[in-house]
Amino acid sequence: MRGELDVDWQEVRAQFPVTEEYVFLDLANKCALPVFSVATIQDYIQKQQRFGGDKSEWFATLEEARARFAQLINAHPDEIAFTKNTSEALNIAANCLPLRAGDTVLINEHEHPNNVYCWLNLERNGVKVKWIPTEGGQVTIEALEQVLDDTTRVVSISSTTYAPGNRNDIKRIVEFCRARGIYTVVDAVQSVGTLQVDVQDWGADVLCTSGHKSLFCPHGVGMLYVRREMLDRMPPVYVARAGMGMAAQIEYNSITYELDQVHSARKFEIGNYNYLGITVLNSSLKYLLALGMNQVEARLLSLHEYLSNWLQEAGFAVISPGTESLRSAILCFRAENAHDLHSYLMENKVITTVRRDMIRVSLGIYNNEADIDLFIELLRKWNPKAQGSTETA
Ligand SMILES: Cc1ncc(COP(=O)(O)O)c(C=O)c1O
Repeated sequence: MRGELDVDWQEVRAQFPVTEEYVFLDLANKCALPVFSVATIQDYIQKQQRFGGDKSEWFATLEEARARFAQLINAHPDEIAFTKNTSEALNIAANCLPLRAGDTVLINEHEHPNNVYCWLNLERNGVKVKWIPTEGGQVTIEALEQVLDDTTRVVSISSTTYAPGNRNDIKRIVEFCRARGIYTVVDAVQSVGTLQVDVQDWGADVLCTSGHKSLFCPHGVGMLYVRREMLDRMPPVYVARAGMGMAAQIEYNSITYELDQVHSARKFEIGNYNYLGITVLNSSLKYLLALGMNQVEARLLSLHEYLSNWLQEAGFAVISPGTESLRSAILCFRAENAHDLHSYLMENKVITTVRRDMIRVSLGIYNNEADIDLFIELLRKWNPKAQGSTETA
């Protein structure tokens, strides 16, 4: 494990030209591409322009990316499928898990809408959705006990909510669910790439994420993890060559047309891939793994703490949890006229988002204390009563 001093964060920041002009606090929404991603895109595009590109190279890179992503979340490459995004991965989970009429799925109102619609869509098959009561998106065992009954088959939950950005105790929830024969689906897009994720430690059955946030890809790359023991219980809805044992028969000379599905998550992959996106993903994963996710997490949580302390002293209503183990790279706070404040910040080249009427600040590896100071300075100007005192409302 690397020591914290091993990372030169200034060097990391230099990879992100966005930092020269903006304070970018919007990674939970999308990324600003770093130099290494852009160089990868240029190289790929130039090769495709010059000679159509080399498909065998694309496949080799794809398998490298699969292996690196597996390493990032402590899975096996056979447990990883590429998708278009988190939402597609969630839809695969919803449609491939063995659910029947009368079964119930538990979700909560702090889930991203795309971790709600995919389950509501099963109501046409007689599957019911029930809501877990939560405070601020924190799902507790007590809350699960309140709504669970013998029809409960799935709990679908974010490891980190998109707002207010609290972490859920996935390990504990999975243990509780597994003991009752309930499958667990984890929407991890707000954890992967900013926090340490270990699927073996968590034990979840399915995990869904995308590349366009903290994995610094263009839109259109997602990843689905399916725990090995679940693969046989999840027949794919759509099938294509990548999922068949004969997938290596590029020239179709000995094609047999047997539905010999592979015993790996590849069976969920359909047709040609987003080779460009996955090639970028591969370079990002290489970069993040070299930094060390323990380093990344520690850095982002320390910036979070720095900002959170100031906001609280200044009297802002910080909605994200104060407990360190529940914190993430996302920090949400309430402010009067949040939309106006968001526009004012934007005019001053500070990029955030408004979610659920809160200002959502999301931190990345390129941010530093100076970014936070500049943000604070603007908040001071926006609300003069917040001059670092505790008197503000
Ligand atoms: C928690 C969460 N889940 C799902 C999504 C949807 O992601 P995608 O657009 O990759 O499908 C988002 C996007 O912001 C999100 O924050």
